[in-house]
Amino acid sequence: MSETACFLLDGNEIELPLIRGSEGETAVDISTLRSKTGAITLDIGYKNTGATTSAITFLDGEKGILRHRGYSIEELANNSCFLEVAYLLIFGELPNKQQYEQFETEVRRHTLVNEDMQNIFKAWPTKSHPMGQLTAMISSLSSFYPECLDPNQSKEDQKLTMIRLVAKMPTISAMLYKKSIGHPVVYPNNSLDYVSNFLNMTFKHITEDYEIDPIVVEAMNKLLILHADHEQNCSTSTVRMVGSSNANLYSCISAGIAALWGPLHGGANQQVIEMLERIKSDGGDATKYINKAKDKDDSFRLMGFGHRVYKNHDPRATIIKKSCDDILNKLGVNDPVFDIAKKLEETALADSYFIERKLFPNVDFYSGIIYRAIGFPIEMFTVLFALGRLPGWVAQWREMRDQNQPIGRPRQIYTGYAPRAFVPMANR
Ligand code: CMC
Repeated sequence: MSETACFLLDGNEIELPLIRGSEGETAVDISTLRSKTGAITLDIGYKNTGATTSAITFLDGEKGILRHRGYSIEELANNSCFLEVAYLLIFGELPNKQQYEQFETEVRRHTLVNEDMQNIFKAWPTKSHPMGQLTAMISSLSSFYPECLDPNQSKEDQKLTMIRLVAKMPTISAMLYKKSIGHPVVYPNNSLDYVSNFLNMTFKHITEDYEIDPIVVEAMNKLLILHADHEQNCSTSTVRMVGSSNANLYSCISAGIAALWGPLHGGANQQVIEMLERIKSDGGDATKYINKAKDKDDSFRLMGFGHRVYKNHDPRATIIKKSCDDILNKLGVNDPVFDIAKKLEETALADSYFIERKLFPNVDFYSGIIYRAIGFPIEMFTVLFALGRLPGWVAQWREMRDQNQPIGRPRQIYTGYAPRAFVPMANR
């Protein structure tokens, strides 16, 4: 028998169906609420609203659990590589050897970007932020593949668009870096694996050999895996929302990148290092900045701290902090901001303000320290988040299309003026 919840409004009682997730989560299906009662629900910031059912990622914020397609983030980060996780997210299962090789071959075939994209690059000021450029570059792919814009295209064409995005994102990301330092681009080398190819396009100087460090490849794989999906976060919800209007996939991903850039979302990773540098140059006093973060008259927030969903710990942050120690040691990098970050964390976790509000380091708190040790400038950090999140966005878009979901169109409660007469300008 189907389960229901009772809803009582103005003496009128109605039953609403309950939806149970495979991990025991419960939702009240309110889709008939308005037609039955005239009322809608109001949940600003979607703190308590499920926008969809999904079989991709499970997250338990109270217990600090994150799983993709049933596999724990810890197991994936320790045993898999980024391209394999991309396959898992998009297609639903871990690939066998043959499936993986075929996927990798298909991705390799599409790593080049159209030469005309160089002209778009040339038009931007060198100092423009790479995230703004990335949004535009991904959107402009729609101009290069006009025959593939229909989201109701055949499954084969849909797959081609998804592969193109996965293949071209590292190339475009590396181009952004080269642009920022005024160097010529390095073309893809398809004899390399996905992550090594990205590192080579980024750090190889066109006139010199570049030796790819396996420690860096491992670190990058891990970081990209840890960012690969995070269910219905701001950028993913944006991708789904834009996709629900039947917009093409390039536009949806471009919109997701724009949402990610915000400092409360992926843009936090750049802000964390800027904050740590500021604390360092101000004498390294962690307590002073913890007090600033607690002061409601001060707009300062502890960047890389707090999360809408995690109220115990962010499992990604735990893995990244440990990797940070390992990688800095292996690379022989001594970054004083790592010590400041650890001191900030220690001080915050012992402070009642952070304890009561359940504020912990999130994925962005330590990631930037690793990116910087590898050699990325801070403006590139959010681009790296986008590179990691791409398979998640694509998988969520695909799931939405497969479920034939309707256009996303929230309602509102109007709080403006009652009807009033127009006043000519001379009388205002
Ligand atoms: N520093 C100081 N106080 C904080 C912080 C912080 N980083 N985060 C939350 N709070 C306080 C906030 O002021 C509020 O206090 P009060 O109850 O007294 O008004 C309380 O904690 C709840 O915060 P909220 O802003 O209502 O929580 P939210 O769920 O709306 O926001 C958040 C979540 C991530 C936007 C927020 O914690 C924040 O701004 N963190 C810093 C930015 C950041 O690191 N973002 C990356 C998020 S993880 C990567 C990703 O997926 O994007």
